[in-house]
Amino acid sequence: MNKVAVIGAGLMGSGIAQTCAQAGYEVVNVDVFPGALEKAEANLNALFDKKVQKGKMTEGEKCEILGRISYSSTYEDVKGAYLIVEAVPEKIDIKKETFANLDQYADEETILVSNTSGLSISEIAAATKRPHKVMGVHFFYPAPVMKLAELIRGLATSDDTYRTVREFAERIKKTIVDAPEFPGFIVNRILVPMQNEAAFMVMEGCSPEDVDNAMKLGANHPMGPLELTDFVGVDVMLATMTGLYEGFHDSKYRPCPLLETMVKAGHLGRKSGRGFYKYE
Ligand code: 3HC
Repeated sequence: MNKVAVIGAGLMGSGIAQTCAQAGYEVVNVDVFPGALEKAEANLNALFDKKVQKGKMTEGEKCEILGRISYSSTYEDVKGAYLIVEAVPEKIDIKKETFANLDQYADEETILVSNTSGLSISEIAAATKRPHKVMGVHFFYPAPVMKLAELIRGLATSDDTYRTVREFAERIKKTIVDAPEFPGFIVNRILVPMQNEAAFMVMEGCSPEDVDNAMKLGANHPMGPLELTDFVGVDVMLATMTGLYEGFHDSKYRPCPLLETMVKAGHLGRKSGRGFYKYE
């Protein structure tokens, strides 16, 4: 039980791979998109170089952790993993296709975990022939830094699967909360509507700086809601809000039209160089 696979090498997937490797797991990070793995590896190297420069990590520790991560563009390399964490884009069809593929390639006893931020675990599990071995673990960005993991059981998740996943989350040093299988789980159901409301205020004429400063200084948030939206990705935040709206069929979760326009314009936040703010 020392090998895990992480599917997806984007911001979340690469962070989860790093978290697992730091906890001593052998990790294979799989991504089928050209260039994604190279980018993830380069970013992690740069992050660790900074930690060595700052004296927070030795060169030896850096090499040891990096040596535990391998990168692959084929699902065949998930063989031997006792647990697989999926972190592909937040679209139900992509999740279901990924799980159907993993079901074919993973060992029979392997547990499949989704890092969905709000989609139905039961629906994702139904794309496999092992729904009792499917569960949700919701990580937060940046995954190596954020202390929480929300654990979400689907309708078919077995007690054995839950126990093993809980042990995994403990081994990677996360604080665990059990979250209900409803859109947004706990954190996003509360956090994302706040970010959405902040976007409405910008649409009504407030400056992003004023909204963010108000929440940083008036509510002690480490980042303002718009800064956080840029940090996580405007598209990711909009997808979560849309998931709440469609999942609860409640108008209180309607996504702010400004977010939709920003996504159409490619203003996705830090990763695209422009969101509510501009980045170098
Ligand atoms: N990846 C990995 N590590 C990172 C990182 C990243 N992207 N960004 C920062 N870090 C690490 C740094 O290396 C540093 O580690 P060190 O102390 O060992 O050197 C540590 O985090 C602190 O970084 P900084 O000193 O540069 O910056 P700050 O002290 O300002 O902290 C922050 C940065 C932790 C991101 C802080 O601003 C924060 O907590 N922001 C709020 C984050 C948040 O709310 N996340 C949840 C988003 S919602 C979500 O994820 C849900 C999902 O469904 C989308």
